[in-house]
Amino acid sequence: MQSLAKRPPCSTAPARVGTACGRRVRASLVIRAQTASSNHVESISGVRQEVVEAIAQARHNCLTATNLPLPNRRQGKVRDTYDLGDRVVIVTTDRQSAFDRLLASVPFKGQVLNQTAAWWFQQTSHIVPNALLSLPDPNVALMKKCAVFPVEFVCRGFMTGSTDTSLWTHYKAGARSYCGNSFPDGMRKNDRLAANVITPTTKAEDHDVPISPREIVEQGLMTQQEWDTVSAAALRIFAFGQAEAAKRGLLLVDTKYEFGKDADGTIHIIDEVHTPDSSRYWLADTYSARHAAGLEPENIDKEFLRLWFRQRCDPYNDAVLPEAPAELVCELSKRYVYLYERITGRDFQVPDLATPINDRIVDNLRKAGLC
Ligand SMILES: Nc1ncnc2c1ncn2[C@@H]1O[C@H](COP(=O)(O)OP(=O)(O)OP(=O)(O)O)[C@@H](O)[C@H]1O
Ligand SMILES: [Mg+2]
Repeated sequence: MQSLAKRPPCSTAPARVGTACGRRVRASLVIRAQTASSNHVESISGVRQEVVEAIAQARHNCLTATNLPLPNRRQGKVRDTYDLGDRVVIVTTDRQSAFDRLLASVPFKGQVLNQTAAWWFQQTSHIVPNALLSLPDPNVALMKKCAVFPVEFVCRGFMTGSTDTSLWTHYKAGARSYCGNSFPDGMRKNDRLAANVITPTTKAEDHDVPISPREIVEQGLMTQQEWDTVSAAALRIFAFGQAEAAKRGLLLVDTKYEFGKDADGTIHIIDEVHTPDSSRYWLADTYSARHAAGLEPENIDKEFLRLWFRQRCDPYNDAVLPEAPAELVCELSKRYVYLYERITGRDFQVPDLATPINDRIVDNLRKAGLC
C-alpha cells in the first residue's frame, strides 16, 4: 500500500477545514492505518455514520449496467449514453474503470460523480458553456448533444501518476518533452510544475495515446483555432478548479476534460468536470512536509485502488484480475462521498435503498417526459 500506510497506527491528520458555497464544510478528515487488515486500506472519516452504513448495504445494489427504454444505447467505460437526436441521456453508473478495465462496482459512485460534475458545470459556466441541461435523476444527466472532439484535454499541475500516459511515467523513463511541453532535468515525483500544462491524448475506444497540439492539428482532429480556444478554456477551468479546491484544503493535481460542438458550432465542455474519477486530489495541508520527507501525498482519489491492483497483478495484460475486497470498495465509496461533500458543501443524499436504481431511473425519466 502507498505511504499513508506508513503513518503510525491510528495517527490522525486533521485536514484544514474550509468553506464551500458560503457555508462551513462539515466533514473533517482523519486517516488511520488499519494495521489489523491484510489489505491495509486506510479509512477516511468525516462521512456520516448513516452514509457509511448505507454504503455497506448498497454494495449489492450497484448500478453496473443499464437497459433503459430509450433509443441508441452506447456503453462507455463509466457512462451509458442514449442518443435522443439533439440531446443525450447520460447515465453515470457505479462502474469503476482504470487501466482500460472494469475493476469493480462502487456503491453511490455514479450518483456522486453525476452530482459533483453538475456542481462544477454550474460553477464554471462563466468560463465556457457546458452541455448540461438538467439532472432528471441523481445518476442521470440530460445534455445537449455535441460532436465530440476526439481528444482528451489532460491538464496537470504536478509531476505525478502511475499509468502509461502519466507524466511521471514518461519523465522517469527519460523523456523531457511530452505532448509539446518541456520539463527540466532533476524533477522528483510529485513536484509541483512551474506552470500548469496540457498533455492531450487521443480519445480511443481502448487505450488513449499521448499526442501533441501540433499533431492534433496536422491529423485534422481539430483546427488550430479550435485547439487555441479549447486549450485556453481548459487551462482557465483547471486554474479555477485549483483555486476552489485550495479553499477547501485540497490540491487539484490533474484532470481531464472533453469538449464538443453543438449544432450551432458553439464549443461546450461535456461529459464530466473535476470529479474524483477524472481528477486527482491531494490534501494541501500535508503535501509539502510529506513531499520533503519523500512520502507520497495523502490523496482522496482512486489512486489507491490502482496501486492495489498494480501490486497484485499486471492490470493491463492479465486476462483475469483479482476481485477488489469489499473493504476496499466501501472505502473508495466513502472517499467519493467525502470529496463530494467537501467540494460542494452539500450533504450527500442517501437514495432509497429498497428501490433498484434502474427502476428509479425509469420512473424519473418518465416524470421528466423522456421515456
Ligand atoms: N454532451 C455530450 N454530447 C455527446 N457525447 C457526450 C456528451 N457528454 C459525454 N459524451 C460522451 O459520452 C461518453 C461517456 O462515456 P464514459 O465517460 O463512460 O467513457 P469515456 O468518456 O469514453 O471514457 P473516459 O471518460 O474514461 O475517458 C463519452 O464517449 C463522451 O464523449
Ligand atoms: Mg468520460
